[in-house]
Amino acid sequence: MSIAELQKMDVVTKAVPTAQPLRKIVIAVDGPAASGKGTLARKIAERLGYAYLDTGALYRAVALAVLEMNGDPSRVGDVMLAVDVVKRNLTLELLASSLLRRPDVSEASSKVAALPEVRTELLEFQRSFAKNPPGEVGGAVLDGRDIGTVVCPDADIKFFVTAKPEERAQRRFNELQWHHPLLTLEKVLADLLQRDQRDKTREVSPAYPANDAYLLDTTKLSPDEVLDTAIYTVQKKFLGATDDHA
Ligand code: DC
Repeated sequence: MSIAELQKMDVVTKAVPTAQPLRKIVIAVDGPAASGKGTLARKIAERLGYAYLDTGALYRAVALAVLEMNGDPSRVGDVMLAVDVVKRNLTLELLASSLLRRPDVSEASSKVAALPEVRTELLEFQRSFAKNPPGEVGGAVLDGRDIGTVVCPDADIKFFVTAKPEERAQRRFNELQWHHPLLTLEKVLADLLQRDQRDKTREVSPAYPANDAYLLDTTKLSPDEVLDTAIYTVQKKFLGATDDHA
């Protein structure tokens, strides 16, 4: 059954049964900015009781540290100093900080993420989170750009979340306009397209779907519809849900 067919069905509204496989499950959720991947990944983790890591926040934390040190986000020396600071001060509070959502931090994050040295430094942390997620949980959900292709190529299930650029820009604009009243939708769209381009064309770990990823277009779906589709896909794969479950 295709994702498109799944989307048309009245799928999964109940929590997944509690029985967990013996080994830890890894779920990779990749996709471009404001595609809905973060919301989806967090909700999957909540629904299944898994640990969640927003890997974009790692790059954003490095970007924020560079900016605070008055460094240049494209200069390896400056950025590696910031990586060092972040690695020594990494907390869940930092990764959840609203400072990381500032437009200048978004812009700088895609510059630091293009540096191979930075990616190598952050890779180990991401892999070890996936392998040994914190807490007594049955698995981990990681979202980013290269989770299914580079960080966890053996992930048990992979999603690649997309949406039309105009829809993504509108979502990001809605999030930001309260704190950034001078921002325009046109500027948000232009920045987003520029970041997409940088993320897709960088030499290391360019952002693209893994061959075995399920593609989810969220343009016309609510977050709950996207979640239901993803959870049904997970259930089908691991818990033997059948097509006539609905
Ligand atoms: O998902 P996000 O917008 O918070 O990501 C911030 C930046 O980090 C973005 O430019 C892409 C980059 N990134 C990456 O290169 N690899 C990841 N696994 C996650 C994010």
